[in-house]
Amino acid sequence: MIKSGKDIIFASKLIRDGKLVAFPTETVYGLGANGLDAKAVARIFEAKKRPSFDPLILHISSIDDLETVFKKPISPLIFQLAEKYWPGPLTIVAPKTTKVPDIVSAGLSTVAVRMPSHKVAQKLIKQAGVPIAAPSANLFGRLSPTQAQHVKEQLTTIDYLLDGGTTNIGLESTIIAVSGNTIEILRPGAITPDRLQADFPKVKIVASSTEKHIQAPGQLKSHYSPRKPLYLYDEMPEVLPAYAGLLLFEPAPIPEGAQSKIKLLSATGDLLEAASNMFNALHDFEADRSIEQIYAVKIKEEGIGLAIMDRINKAAYRFTHFVDENGISEGEGLPQQSQT
Ligand code: TXA
Ligand code: MG
Repeated sequence: MIKSGKDIIFASKLIRDGKLVAFPTETVYGLGANGLDAKAVARIFEAKKRPSFDPLILHISSIDDLETVFKKPISPLIFQLAEKYWPGPLTIVAPKTTKVPDIVSAGLSTVAVRMPSHKVAQKLIKQAGVPIAAPSANLFGRLSPTQAQHVKEQLTTIDYLLDGGTTNIGLESTIIAVSGNTIEILRPGAITPDRLQADFPKVKIVASSTEKHIQAPGQLKSHYSPRKPLYLYDEMPEVLPAYAGLLLFEPAPIPEGAQSKIKLLSATGDLLEAASNMFNALHDFEADRSIEQIYAVKIKEEGIGLAIMDRINKAAYRFTHFVDENGISEGEGLPQQSQT
């Protein structure tokens, strides 16, 4: 049994002692360890059964902490982005200092950093006094946790779970890499390309090219999977079999008698609300014994719809393609850096 509660001071001592603490952020629950302690970080990989080529995000509580983790000179654009979106769901990737152990970045010369806005996360990081390395607190490749209960079900070997209720955004942070005057989006999230472009009109915003090489497992074709087959539909199916549950991101005409097996994620068609309910709904379908297959109706890949479709395509991929246990399908390589 994992110990769980709301004691942030106790949890921060555990972090300093090299232990593992799961905690809420505004996006999803994270599984945290002292980000400057290689041995503590190694325990994260063990607990998540995460392949070691998969780098972690460091969580900080103040912009001043950037100098500990990013190599100088830090680009002025990084500070502008931090001022604009932090604390919040944006992760920035840039060259790391030698203080950041290689295990955090999986041997890459860059590290991913974000400042979460959730009050519990902020207090935990501040009290611990160190950057906290934290991936989402799920087993590798499985659904991200949006409630403490989801963490309990998946991770049984951790030291403490800080319960902060249901997460607000419910979708992992947007990850960007900054180089010169260009922002590359490595993983779409609540901070959309349109918003970045509107806030930084002179900066070039590019979508990441998975063709190049995998920089983030979030870029693998298969990820975030439920344990029941998930199939995507272009539009509402005409009939819904009794063994199927259906995810609907926006209102649509519902087949007769199917009401009880449909989860409408936003009654008003608000896609931000739908995003925040998506992983919750998938967890519920996963737990519902009367449901054997999950269907979802696709939405337009624009605005937050880009991040929603990114997650749902990856969650569905393994049910229509061959993938190995690391979520890698035929023809997809390991990250370039880890092959050397
Ligand atoms: O919202 C979030 O970002 C949550 C909460 C807990 O903060 N965290 C999260 O972590 O989603 P995780 O480990 O599940 O996803 C982190 C992603 C991974 O796909 C990882 O490969 C990528 O960040 N990443 C980390 N360091 C990187 C780097 N140096 N270059 C490119 N991608 C990196
Ligand atoms: Mg994850």
